[in-house]
Amino acid sequence: MLGKIQPSLRDLGLSSRPPGNKLPGYYHGALRDKGWIRGIEGDFNASALNNRVFTLATALQSRIISTLNMNKAPIHVAVTGAAGAIGYSILFRIASGEVFGPDQPIILHLVDIEPALPVLQGVILELEDVASPVLKGLVATADMNEGFRNISWALLIGSVPRKPGMERKDLLAINGKIFTGQGQAIAKNAAKDVRILVVGNPCNTNCLIGMNNSDLPHDRWFAMTRLDENRAVAQLAKKSGADATAISNLAIWGNHSPTMYPDFYNAKIGGKPVTEVITDENWLKTEFVTTVAQRGTAVMNARKASSAASAANAAIDTVKSIITPTKAGDWHSVCVESDGSYGIEKGLICSFPMRSDGKKLEIVQGLKIHPFSQEKINGTVAELQGEKAIATELGMLSK
Ligand SMILES: NC(=O)c1ccc[n+]([C@@H]2O[C@H](COP(=O)([O-])OP(=O)(O)OC[C@H]3O[C@@H](n4cnc5c(N)ncnc54)[C@H](O)[C@@H]3O)[C@@H](O)[C@H]2O)c1
Repeated sequence: MLGKIQPSLRDLGLSSRPPGNKLPGYYHGALRDKGWIRGIEGDFNASALNNRVFTLATALQSRIISTLNMNKAPIHVAVTGAAGAIGYSILFRIASGEVFGPDQPIILHLVDIEPALPVLQGVILELEDVASPVLKGLVATADMNEGFRNISWALLIGSVPRKPGMERKDLLAINGKIFTGQGQAIAKNAAKDVRILVVGNPCNTNCLIGMNNSDLPHDRWFAMTRLDENRAVAQLAKKSGADATAISNLAIWGNHSPTMYPDFYNAKIGGKPVTEVITDENWLKTEFVTTVAQRGTAVMNARKASSAASAANAAIDTVKSIITPTKAGDWHSVCVESDGSYGIEKGLICSFPMRSDGKKLEIVQGLKIHPFSQEKINGTVAELQGEKAIATELGMLSK
């Protein structure tokens, strides 16, 4: 792809430095004059998009800029559901460099289904308009092999949203199938260091399905409860009058669903137990837990659309807290394969308090679980077991 058409500055007849500080514009104009840029302004259309790799003007410019400014090899990052609402928020933040660092070149793989490719074309135009210093290339495709080739990260967002009257089982029947295929395609095509975050719902069980349908090590698979954690942090901050940054040690246990449990007994505000700062324990047990659980519905009712920007933000927070060492003494919520910790059935994809050393994640051990918390954890784990049973019954997991 990029490598094949990357011209040297000499090939382009350009001097090694542009005049003044107009680097992107200068190269863009020069490249266009020399016929190196086609696509966006020329033969770029939805039908041509399908299953083809596109190298954009921006990518070409940035590649040249990178030879001047950046030494790291680019990493390939796939986002499925790239034409959807969460995709629309997350792509631009990845392209800004905030997730993998301002010196880490990125090649974004935008994966969606064929009917969504015309919309994806517009997203690509806007990604070009960011003139990102880190975005070195774009692959836009409905072909999973192409979409997952060489990737080091897969953000699996694409799936069918739940419609009114749909049972969780119906959703699993539709979306689970997506993840069997994606698990296999990632294992076949991705880079050796690939890590996968599943956001598409029901994300825990979709992750379980993807993981069990690929032969990748299980510790590469994650699902997202960070949105629930962030919602819980925001509610505690609001109630206590503290800044959100003062809230720590807030873990979500279990499933990303209204049964999830935000463990306020082990959380802290300004270093003190939450129950010392917010003494209304009844509020914590009832209104707090319910507000966090029903927040998605509240957003849906107000916006007439599901949480998208906050979900994209949470996915970014999740990736950052996996690849960055966790602050001493703190933890975050990530769904990982249970190793039996805290008596939770081995093999389920369950949200735990997690710590990272920047490379590997581990479940925080030895936390005291309050009887109220234990009851809530039992409930949410039972839901995960039920979803696993349905996925097995549907033939998406082996017995
Ligand atoms: N885990 C969480 O905290 C969390 C939070 C919010 C939303 N979600 C879930 O994220 C998912 C996406 O939400 P959204 O608001 O972006 O939805 P959306 O409907 O706006 O977009 C979904 C996108 O996925 C694409 N898609 C469908 N099937 C696909 C497939 N097989 N391969 C690739 N792409 C496919 C669609 O074409 C569409 O572009 C939903 O399942 C939603 O429930 C999870």
